[in-house]
Amino acid sequence: MAAPIQALEMKLQPVSVTRQMAAAFPRLKALAAQKGLELHHLGAGYPHPEVSDPTGYIAHKDAYFHRLAKEAAPDATHAGLRDLLRGMYSYTDTLGPVRAREAFARVYGNDFGVKIDPSKLIPTVGSTGGISLMCSMFERLGKDIAYIVDAPTYTGFVTRAALYQRSHFYSVGMDEQGPDPEALRGQIRKAREAGHHVAFYYTVPDGHNPGGISFSEARRREIMRVVVEEGIFAVEDAPYTYISFESPNERPRPFVAIDPEHAVHLFTASKIGLPGPRVGFCYSEVRLAVSGNKTIDLTELFLTEASGDVLFHNPEALRGFEAYLTDENFEPRQTLWPVAAKKNAVYAENRKILLDGLREYLGEFSGEFDWTEPGAGFFSVFTFKNPKIKTDQQFVEKLIADYGVVTIPMFGFFPSDAKKRDPHVGLDQLRLSFSFCESCGDERREAMKKAVRAFSNAARIECGLPSLPGM
Ligand SMILES: Cc1ncc(COP(=O)(O)O)c(C=O)c1O
Repeated sequence: MAAPIQALEMKLQPVSVTRQMAAAFPRLKALAAQKGLELHHLGAGYPHPEVSDPTGYIAHKDAYFHRLAKEAAPDATHAGLRDLLRGMYSYTDTLGPVRAREAFARVYGNDFGVKIDPSKLIPTVGSTGGISLMCSMFERLGKDIAYIVDAPTYTGFVTRAALYQRSHFYSVGMDEQGPDPEALRGQIRKAREAGHHVAFYYTVPDGHNPGGISFSEARRREIMRVVVEEGIFAVEDAPYTYISFESPNERPRPFVAIDPEHAVHLFTASKIGLPGPRVGFCYSEVRLAVSGNKTIDLTELFLTEASGDVLFHNPEALRGFEAYLTDENFEPRQTLWPVAAKKNAVYAENRKILLDGLREYLGEFSGEFDWTEPGAGFFSVFTFKNPKIKTDQQFVEKLIADYGVVTIPMFGFFPSDAKKRDPHVGLDQLRLSFSFCESCGDERREAMKKAVRAFSNAARIECGLPSLPGM
């Protein structure tokens, strides 16, 4: 083997729990198949194929583009379309097409009670791209940077933020309402005492991944109070705001609606639209003090980062999303909730099958098991109260190999400081996803029912309880 080219003085990151599961999956799937076991998906947090129709999305987009071309050049359709598309396939402004931003500001603003200024709406490569730019803004300082996160937190955030060698994570435990506000304050202060620059508090208040809860409105207010008092801001990652199971008057408001001057909102179209086009937006009214006694909009710094990174967002994708924000007659939509309702019919049904099944098969053993009932999103967190159970990698691999049930262990979602506080943290929990399976319609319902039954049966057997009848 050739000698390594350079000695890099850097700490290497551990592989994320979801990557580990993806790597082990083909081997475990083969093992389950050898035993004649059917595979049950409660692991992947992907959008369901039944509500992800790219053909409809593309057809509507194309028809919308033709219509725009006709509007621009009524007598020469081809020239109109060519000119329109030229703009979409050329170099463009980092801010992206104004009509797409105006359309999004109108719809999202209406739907979540926020007044969005389209000039501060910056396109991102999904929420992942927003996370990346938020981190790189603070990395420029060249200092030790502290991120305040939930315990557990989204691995995509930690994976990105930890790329910077001088990043540190201070985590805050959660209950069913959300994170503990005073613990949040404590962690901000602890980070500062350690000489770290606190960048922001990162969280997922709606349909927390992987926490399986939505924060209550009261808790959101308490969190915002602490954030303001401590002089920081919150970054709310918001893939699941539209994947809500609450009635409209009970939906908690996003941080950006509560206090836009102390929140950065990362919207992504991945769940309400499709993930592939990689459409997202960052919105905020946070202002930052910078050198020379100056104050600037956070979005201005974010825009500078974006122009040095993606340079410009795919304008065709953004205008495709603009098309999605018009109805079948190309009238501007005022709301996306009717679109969400169609998707949520499937997610709510899957969620109900999961929660009803867990209640039916495990409800009598409340001393053994517990699970969250998420107000939004794709996940429920399942807890084993039996101290004999350790939901480590070996345990989840056993669930696949012996029962055909795919789940994700929770321990990998806890930052290392949470593991120091409690070495067993997350080792009694699994993340159950109800968003994805391979089939549609009645077959999907059947697959979901079978999955929850197979999982419940596995949980019973592993805890030394009687198996379900006929299994
Ligand atoms: C909390 C959270 N953030 C970000 C993402 C990724 O979003 P995007 O597809 O917009 O990059 C996901 C997707 O699962 C997520 O759950």
